[in-house]
Amino acid sequence: MKKKFIKSDDALVAIRTGGKLLGEILEKVSCAVKVGVTTKSLDDYACELIVAAGGRPAFLGYQISPRYPAYPAGLCVSVNDEVVHGIPKSTQVLVAGDIVGLDIGMEWPYKKNGPAGFYTDTAMTVSAGTASAEDKKLMDRTYAALRAGISAAHDGGEVRDISRAIEGSLKPFGYGIVEDLVGHGVGYSVHEDPQIPNFLYRGAPVIPLKSGMVLALEPMVNRGGSEVYTDRDAWTIKTSDRSRSAHFEHTIIITDTGADIVTLRPGEL
Ligand code: MF3
Ligand code: CO
Ligand code: CO
Repeated sequence: MKKKFIKSDDALVAIRTGGKLLGEILEKVSCAVKVGVTTKSLDDYACELIVAAGGRPAFLGYQISPRYPAYPAGLCVSVNDEVVHGIPKSTQVLVAGDIVGLDIGMEWPYKKNGPAGFYTDTAMTVSAGTASAEDKKLMDRTYAALRAGISAAHDGGEVRDISRAIEGSLKPFGYGIVEDLVGHGVGYSVHEDPQIPNFLYRGAPVIPLKSGMVLALEPMVNRGGSEVYTDRDAWTIKTSDRSRSAHFEHTIIITDTGADIVTLRPGEL
């Protein structure tokens, strides 16, 4: 039996501890989302909390490919029609009714010149002030889709079970599920195989789920169509029709009976 994608027991222990810390951090940062604050101030706060927890902001300096610029922050902040990978700015002030995606990654433990730590990745969308009823539904249903995906994951299943559950849970609403970006393996680095699409498609590979796999599930859901494009800043992904978008993400560990959410937040049941 190939041990493909399966983490060592030592790695799993560190991933559980780092993930718990990261869930606490994301919850704190989400509480700082208020009318009048800048997206840069949220990044500053997030980085401060990560360093205080003994970690390193995993997104800071991250490059998807050597041909693209390094990501310049520790927290992705994606407002309204920004889907993911929004860059925090000191000139970007939140206004009432904005919906704000917060996506955070941490290497933990982190010691300069020490051995590499382990990576976890989690995200949520919250509003500044009161969200509109339609935005609230979008956020609630995107969160529910993430939970449906997590509920479908267990040893002996396959990646397509997760994709099917996420897509199925969103089906009644007519939203656009983003197809250009996907969930992923995580743990030894920010992004690992396998890819985890938030939808089924013809010819999707059969990838078995095994105990000890560590995955980041992350539905990205638009009120309008599913089409997105990359902004001129080379990072920010936006909806093509300017509709608003929500994003929730957890790092999970596949177990014999289901999946454990390692980035569960204290306020999340
Ligand atoms: N957090 C993203 C994900 O969920 C990756 C962000 S890469 C960055 O996969 F460089 F933009 F931070
Ligand atoms: Co993320
Ligand atoms: Co991710």
